[in-house]
Amino acid sequence: MKPLSSLLSESPLIQAMAAHSPLSARLAQEAGFDAIWASGFELSALYGLPDVSLTTMTEHLSMTRAMAAQVTCPVIADIDTGFGNAVNVDHAVREYERAGASAVVIEDKLFPKVTSLVEGGRQELLRTEEFQGKIEAACNARDNGCFKIIARTEALIAGQGVKEALRRGYAYAQAGADLLLVHSKSKTPDEIEAFIEGWTDPCPLVLVPTSYPEMTTERMSRSGKVAIAIWGNHAIRASVKAMQDCFARIRREGGILNVDAEIAPVNEVFRLQKMERVRMLEKSYLR
Ligand code: SPV
Ligand code: MG
Repeated sequence: MKPLSSLLSESPLIQAMAAHSPLSARLAQEAGFDAIWASGFELSALYGLPDVSLTTMTEHLSMTRAMAAQVTCPVIADIDTGFGNAVNVDHAVREYERAGASAVVIEDKLFPKVTSLVEGGRQELLRTEEFQGKIEAACNARDNGCFKIIARTEALIAGQGVKEALRRGYAYAQAGADLLLVHSKSKTPDEIEAFIEGWTDPCPLVLVPTSYPEMTTERMSRSGKVAIAIWGNHAIRASVKAMQDCFARIRREGGILNVDAEIAPVNEVFRLQKMERVRMLEKSYLR
């Protein structure tokens, strides 16, 4: 597996695709994405739950472990607020590193958090000093320096403006964060671009341009300050739409005759399940 640290030094912009299962992680890797975003939003949606700290660390950790086992590219684990205070963060980082993740993203919201992009969501931030303690705990808990600690500020999501986001970003970089994720729910890239313009720390930035889709990879690369682009929820949204369309058509047409040619053939699922290997094992060992 190529470590995230070498990708960071080689690639001008790493593109991470969201995933919520080992299968979606495999598909993202096959599509050419450099890394997998083990998204809390996507996993919550998979369970039919809102992304408000309802899924447990055990659930997210075991899905992260299963994803990491199925891909060779780095997995960036979205650990929300770190499941508690700095003591919980210390434990979480050890567990995620052991599970095969390459990085964790910890956000500066209060537990329990409310998903960032929902209209009118309660967005409360932790005191800066307390979050610095969580970042320091995370950095000291890792076994290998290649494991990246990504601090995430939700200052823009909380409507506190670019100046506050910059102040928090500098404080988190000072606490040892390897990268800074700055999230925005602005409908255009302007707010994030004002942040990027003001950012003078060498700590590289991570963006999740879900709500401002005009932001292209070319535009993100311009400043030289953005190291990772996360396509934040496109795996779950694509699958929701595909299933809705397929199910509605079968109901409407009273059968599967037309839909069959439009969905993945069973052989494609067999390929993804590695049935070929079962055949090989049977041939070699079943006597
Ligand atoms: C996630 O995918 O879980 C994220 C990104 O944290 S967002 O949902 O936009 O907050
Ligand atoms: Mg999340």
